[in-house]
Amino acid sequence: MIIIPGPTSQILGIKVARLLNSPIVKVSFKDFPDGETYVRVEGELKNKEIVLIQSTYYPQDKHLIQMFFLLDTIKEMGPSKITLVVPYFAYARQDKRFKEGEALSFNIIRKIIENLGVDELLTIDIHAPHVLENFSIKTRDLTAMRLIGEYFSSRELHEPLVIAPDDGAIHRAKTVSEVLKSEYVSFDKFRDRDTGQITMEFKELNVMGRDILIVDDIISTGGTMAKAIKMTKDQGANKVFVAATHTLLIGEARTKIMSAGADEIIGTDTIPNEVSKISVAKLIADYLKK
Ligand code: R5P
Repeated sequence: MIIIPGPTSQILGIKVARLLNSPIVKVSFKDFPDGETYVRVEGELKNKEIVLIQSTYYPQDKHLIQMFFLLDTIKEMGPSKITLVVPYFAYARQDKRFKEGEALSFNIIRKIIENLGVDELLTIDIHAPHVLENFSIKTRDLTAMRLIGEYFSSRELHEPLVIAPDDGAIHRAKTVSEVLKSEYVSFDKFRDRDTGQITMEFKELNVMGRDILIVDDIISTGGTMAKAIKMTKDQGANKVFVAATHTLLIGEARTKIMSAGADEIIGTDTIPNEVSKISVAKLIADYLKK
């Protein structure tokens, strides 16, 4: 099995290859002066099983184009199998037409991937796993929630409570709470489709003096987390940690979250940044080993 770390997942790809004891084929990449994308696969792939690892965080469209260019190139080099690992899958929140005339963005990306000859697709905590059911190829979504639970189990949290900021993330909070052997609850969140404004319904909690861990799949602008932190702090929570698999942290998200009262933000290396303290490399490697 040959691992190809894509431009967005260079370190993660190297870690996966080391865990599997697999060779790496490098990719060189750059942007032309006018912004167009250049990629080159620097190795022999004929009759080999190939794993391309390419996350699609911001700038999503550039990283998707790199992925499409790489997949087409890899296919033409005659491998026996192509597994595509997309640790953070962009556009997974655009899986339905909320208003007439909107693009079905995720569906379009699905069609391109299928047409580029991918045999298997692996994702991590994709926003709505049901979107994978529409693929005609084999797909699998893994979760980093146990890793998040394990990370926080060394923190000696005081009477921890795990919170999902909305009902869609309740199963994520449940998984983390199983590792921490703690309780879990969820809030009810509503988002205005036009303004993006979030409203969170008040929920009375038993949080006085307790340490809180709020978990989600994505932190984007930080609005969801900030609202959830405020709700727990207003009711007397002690320390509040926030964790997500994919910490996009757009614009002032970090400041927004910390000034709402968070003690720390933790993410994984599906998006490599200053808060990505947890690696999903073993999760991916263990799956690929099977
Ligand atoms: C949406 O339901 C997701 O699970 C996240 O809660 C959301 O993407 C977070 O976005 P933001 O950080 O912009 O509030």
